Amino acid sequence: MRIYLDHNATTPVRDEVVAAMVRALRELPGNPSSAHAEGAAARAAIERARERVASLVGARSQEIVFTSGATESNHLAIHGAARASGRRHLVTSAAEHPSVEEPFAVLEAEGFRVTRLDVDADGRVDPEALAAAIGSDTALVSLLWANNETGVIQPIEALAAVTRAVGIPLHVDATQALGKIPVRLDAVPADLLSASAHKLNGPKGVGCLVVRGERTLTPWLRGGAQERGRRGGTHNVAGIVGFGVACELAEHERISRAAAAASLRDRLWSGIESKIPRVRRNGSALHVLPNTLSVEFEGAAADVLLEALDGDGIAVSAGAACASGAVHASRSLLAMGRSPAQARASLRFSTGHGNDEAQIDRVLTVLPDRVARLRELEQP
Ligand SMILES: Cc1ncc(COP(=O)(O)O)c(C=O)c1O
Repeated sequence: MRIYLDHNATTPVRDEVVAAMVRALRELPGNPSSAHAEGAAARAAIERARERVASLVGARSQEIVFTSGATESNHLAIHGAARASGRRHLVTSAAEHPSVEEPFAVLEAEGFRVTRLDVDADGRVDPEALAAAIGSDTALVSLLWANNETGVIQPIEALAAVTRAVGIPLHVDATQALGKIPVRLDAVPADLLSASAHKLNGPKGVGCLVVRGERTLTPWLRGGAQERGRRGGTHNVAGIVGFGVACELAEHERISRAAAAASLRDRLWSGIESKIPRVRRNGSALHVLPNTLSVEFEGAAADVLLEALDGDGIAVSAGAACASGAVHASRSLLAMGRSPAQARASLRFSTGHGNDEAQIDRVLTVLPDRVARLRELEQP
């Protein structure tokens, strides 16, 4: 049996989600945009899913725009808000997911001015630095809720208070946070929020952008009036239904899930600390997702360690999952002041559905030897 500790890359789909999706595929053949009964049935299923997603995030259902995932949601939010505003300055941080960083790079090449806020050694953005960065020409602020590599949670209430005080729209990429910690737009006044079903035991290829109020956004995908004109393209009916069920499960189980994930994560870290010398945890140990542990194994190349563990039946990640396979230092770790060598010696463990204590104990019997052997080999 393999041990999957890469839940920040993607999660196994829950049986309840699969069952609902199979039903939708079999029983809802219609196009939700069609005027006939088959269309209406598919439309009704989408609207039920919309209510479930809205309920999890504390929004109104008409504020949910279904997309193909968080990458698309981030593009819609960033390009959409920047182009609709007429202003030319944008603010983000130096430790964002590539699906946020790259749209900013494109806009910068087009002549927008982009301020990338530093993060501290714990991986967090300073709300005062955000306040100082915002000017009269600022169109949008975009920040992560929780980092995919380190799990570090931003002081999002304080950051949202800053943008709210000056009336600048705030986009938050909550892809890693949703389902793991409370993500409530009735408590945090973000204007735009991205999420993805496959990070919370739903299917891949579906997500949403929550658009608060009647904000004007230039559409990213055109060619249909779906999603109130904000996202053209025939709906992924089964995927959306699965996303809705995943959100409903997450809402009911969040507290027990978080406790289980944290207990396994903490068991892993205390075992690593006691059995392996020269290790360091990356990012805040206090403001961190319950399931995430990023560790630097000094002097051990993480990509080689990952491969060895994979051979032992253990799946983890070195740097961002999307960048797995490519050996380059993680931007998030570099932004926190880690050297390229330290970043390249860092592994991410992320727990979730299906993990148990016996699996963690098995990792703790294998890992010390793997690290020791690698360090011996890498000794000059
Ligand atoms: C923080 C964050 N944002 C966005 C994405 C992209 O999500 P999707 O795979 O749904 O496009 C990811 C996925 O790794 C992520 O971790």
